[in-house]
Amino acid sequence: MRPAVGLLYNPSTPALLAHAPGLVEHLSAMPDRMWFDFGDEPVGQRFRHAHGAIAELAGHARGRSLAGHGLGLSLPSAMPLDGAMLGAVVQVAEGVGGFEWYSEHLSVFVTPGGAAVPNAQAGLGLPVVYGDESFALLAPKLRRLKDALGCRVLLENPAQFSPLTDLDCSEPEFLNRLYRAGLSGTLLDLHNLYVCQRNGVTDPLAYLEALDPDSVEEVHLAGGDEFGGFYMDSHATVTPQPVWELAREFLPRCRRLRAITLEYQESYFEQIGLAALARELELMHELAEHCASTAPAPSC
Ligand SMILES: [Fe+2]
Repeated sequence: MRPAVGLLYNPSTPALLAHAPGLVEHLSAMPDRMWFDFGDEPVGQRFRHAHGAIAELAGHARGRSLAGHGLGLSLPSAMPLDGAMLGAVVQVAEGVGGFEWYSEHLSVFVTPGGAAVPNAQAGLGLPVVYGDESFALLAPKLRRLKDALGCRVLLENPAQFSPLTDLDCSEPEFLNRLYRAGLSGTLLDLHNLYVCQRNGVTDPLAYLEALDPDSVEEVHLAGGDEFGGFYMDSHATVTPQPVWELAREFLPRCRRLRAITLEYQESYFEQIGLAALARELELMHELAEHCASTAPAPSC
């Protein structure tokens, strides 16, 4: 199967779509950016959706595949699933005619207690302790999310900045376990893996050797930069060469891969430039062809 080539949708995406419409086959959109959350309002009035932005996204998604990519549900957290936010996600999905699949992050993003809104953001994805307890927290939330949206759910490997110790299992083993339990597939962010390598957290080759390639249904490419002595997942540049090399080596093994998605942060749109982003998309098409021409045949 040849994966589709696409973009994580942001306010600058329409300009890139106008510049290179034929290069974009897939869009991934964050519903969290399409509402205002008035957390202290009565139930039913908390979320005000940006209906114009939702309609614009639906228009750009016509003729392309469309997936949702959420940030705010903070699924591995010990806090209960935010049912009102899940309802807001479903409302966005209905507004765009449905998501083909939906991804969330394998990170904790909310800080409980004392905040003005129930889902106060931590500002940075906090790491998950991989083991039975986190699995038990995630399983019912993943089932509920899948039932609410009626589509496949994926979890994305996080960018991390320092090694974790005393885990019951490794991150790829945890993702494999979720996949084999039928709870979620993997959104493999190869740049996040590179971030982990640069910060001394992970050996990407060992990581990819341990990850079940059949679990991988979407891939993220991106670029970052250095800040405060760390390499950051800032989405500030084009994809670094080592990430392309990981992609060419590993992705042909991923026979269930549906999309390769580029993430760039809109505040760096002018700095990266239209020509460089279009070139990035061309390279992604070459990668998709490489996957299709060298991929192993699907098993029965
Ligand atoms: Fe990502």
